[in-house]
Amino acid sequence: MRAAIEALPGSKIREVANAGLGRSDVLAFWFGESDEVTPEVIREAAAQSLLAGETFYSHNLGLPELRHDIARYASGLHGAVEMDRIAVTSSGVTALMLAMQMLVGAGDEVVAVVPVWPNLTAQPAILGAHVTRVPLRPRAGVWSLDLDELLSRVTAQTRVLLVNAPNNPTGWTLTRAEQQAMLEHCRGTGTWIVADEVYERVYFGGAPAAPSFLDIADPDDRLIVAQSFSKSFLMTGWRLGWLVLPRGQLDAAGKLLEFNSSCAPVFVQRGGQAALVLADSFVPGLVARLQGCRDRLVAGLRAMPRVTVAAPPGGMYAFFRVDGRDDSLAFAKQLVSVHGLGLAPGAAFGPEGEGWLRWCFASKDPARLDAGLERLSQALRL
Ligand SMILES: Cc1ncc(COP(=O)(O)O)c(C=O)c1O
Repeated sequence: MRAAIEALPGSKIREVANAGLGRSDVLAFWFGESDEVTPEVIREAAAQSLLAGETFYSHNLGLPELRHDIARYASGLHGAVEMDRIAVTSSGVTALMLAMQMLVGAGDEVVAVVPVWPNLTAQPAILGAHVTRVPLRPRAGVWSLDLDELLSRVTAQTRVLLVNAPNNPTGWTLTRAEQQAMLEHCRGTGTWIVADEVYERVYFGGAPAAPSFLDIADPDDRLIVAQSFSKSFLMTGWRLGWLVLPRGQLDAAGKLLEFNSSCAPVFVQRGGQAALVLADSFVPGLVARLQGCRDRLVAGLRAMPRVTVAAPPGGMYAFFRVDGRDDSLAFAKQLVSVHGLGLAPGAAFGPEGEGWLRWCFASKDPARLDAGLERLSQALRL
């Protein structure tokens, strides 16, 4: 086995989940998904596709009709994005891995804004690249970026700047001014931006989507945006995403896709088409429900002694800390085994997240959040 693979960290979220294995009484909020099933029309579209016998390979880049629909959807949010920049992928995580495979090789430097979902920093490491971590820092529970610090780390030697915003786990969301500064800087250094924008619709800032690099970049900029159906359409188990590439890079992406998944399953892509038809009528309601969940959870956490938390502007997570509980893995394991409360340890997202806990608030039944809060409150009373 290659040393880079041996060196990959095991998932600390799984480690906590394993501590509660086989227990039906655990209230689990550790994974990044809602407990709500995918809307029926999307499931029906996939079922119809299967019944119609769509069981064959598709084009490497995905069904042209789905790529067309994605281009129209992205254009509606961000201004013209042509179909010849869209590649369909088997999940957001695959989209990100493909982007990394396209851009980095052994010895390259990737600068990443952290803490972040661990897959993002593992992917370049798998390819033998070196990852430089630039930390967001918390003040009263609000995480923010020192832009000057970030830009000083991105040099002509930096191959990729990797940014996930809205950020998992902190909820940190880029401002337009920060995006503009990053784009200008990367144009100067010749650095690619890989933007993980899978939470763009899960945004509570009063717009249909969080600020996207697509809003400001030219089609020829060195920018790759990774997207997913998972979060906006409750489709985590479907494994469907897409890439927005610079103009002229699609053929290369198609070749690379051949050697990864070859293509996404056709019936899953039909589900994706149905999801995009539903977007305008479904996503705003989902986001409103999530905002209700966020407000309820954050208010409950705030009411507890020694807890620091802020309402995240985007994403599906409350990231909070309890004074005196600095070992997040040990604390999360204790919460599961003693109190039946399943949260993700902040250390799972890098050393910058140590001392914090992540609580996914995407729940169709907000009473579950109340029950979870009661268990945490009990734990803090002991
Ligand atoms: C920041 C971030 N990016 C990408 C993904 C990938 O989503 P998926 O592979 O389900 O499309 C996730 C999933 O949790 C995520 O949190």
